[in-house]
Amino acid sequence: MARAAALASSLVLLCLALAGSTDAARKTVGAYRLRNKKGDFSIKVTNWGATLMSVIVPDSKGNLADVVLGYDKLAQYVDASSAFGTVVGRVANRIANGSFVLDGKTIRLNKDGTTTLHGGHRGFNRVIWTVKEYVPGGDSPYITLYYRSFDGEQGFPGDLDVYVTYQLCCGPYELRAVMNATALDKATPVNLANHAYWNLAGSGDALGHLVQVLASRYTPVDAAMIPTGEVAPVTGTPYDLRAPTLLGSRIKHVSAAGMAGFDVNYAVDGDGFRFRRVARLRDPASGRALELWANQPGVQLYTSNWLSNVEGKGGRVYGQYGAVCLETQAFPDAVNHPNFPSEIVRPGGTYQHDMLFKFSF
Ligand SMILES: *[C@@H]1O[C@H](CO)[C@@H](O)[C@H](O)[C@H]1NC(C)=O
Ligand SMILES: *[C@@H]1O[C@H](CO)[C@@H](O)[C@H](O)[C@H]1NC(C)=O
Repeated sequence: MARAAALASSLVLLCLALAGSTDAARKTVGAYRLRNKKGDFSIKVTNWGATLMSVIVPDSKGNLADVVLGYDKLAQYVDASSAFGTVVGRVANRIANGSFVLDGKTIRLNKDGTTTLHGGHRGFNRVIWTVKEYVPGGDSPYITLYYRSFDGEQGFPGDLDVYVTYQLCCGPYELRAVMNATALDKATPVNLANHAYWNLAGSGDALGHLVQVLASRYTPVDAAMIPTGEVAPVTGTPYDLRAPTLLGSRIKHVSAAGMAGFDVNYAVDGDGFRFRRVARLRDPASGRALELWANQPGVQLYTSNWLSNVEGKGGRVYGQYGAVCLETQAFPDAVNHPNFPSEIVRPGGTYQHDMLFKFSF
């Protein structure tokens, strides 16, 4: 690790010639490391999709492990269709029929089949962001990435200025991720989410993890994974994760209900947009734990149900249930459900999404 740390501030640069783009549109994709002073906590970020490439944390014996899924090479992120660690937007999750009505006007988005998922074919996870600031070391290292989304991008209305900051802050072994988006000229929905795939063991599957989601209600979906509009109690359903629950034992009950695993949005207990504790994840074998705080009304729990045979870091092959995603966000398809918390940002208004990942061991 000491050697890897020595490479801390070195940038891996890769020039991408985007198909059909002009020279002016050619941009550079790089990898940027942030590291604490002690050298036992670090992350790597790329400006491709504002992606969290790695998060390295110790266990109680001081063994370091990378606790997010991803790839060794930047080029693999660019080629991949997976969302490993990316920031998804302009609107994460599903929008029924890829359309909605805003201020009396029907907006049509790019679709995959019948729905729009994660902002369309080329969402924020598949564009190059600009590195605004980069402080690799010191007391609270950080990187700020910027993206200007344009009017009509994937069908969404209006120009939008988007910032994402990753920071090792503010306690030891804490990662802060803050995102904001300012609507410049038109009202638009905004719902950004970080799509990290957590595996606190650093290898194998995540079925031995204990999962806790601090939510008494969830948003049931139809066969097409679109919310019915109901916000139902978790009581008496396999989705009740209010107490720490062994993923491997519970996932069978979710499967029995016709799902391949968890892929569900929870209505986090507490005030819609107040910053609060959302979920806990613990790997008893290594002792590593993650507590997630955020200021969003929902969190999508996804247990990598469709992950299959993906060659990842260090030759590891990722499979089903290889990781747990905890994507804090507004409720899926909120644009089509007036009873869900609104994700509309008016011109001059700013969307703000704060996340804190607290690691312990
Ligand atoms: C989506 O389209 C179907 C018919 O194709 C319609 O029944 C349904 O109401 C639409 N959903 C929304 C949210 O517009
Ligand atoms: C959004 O975040 C950036 C980067 O931290 C910051 O400079 C900017 O002031 C923020 N915008 C608003 C409107 O809060």
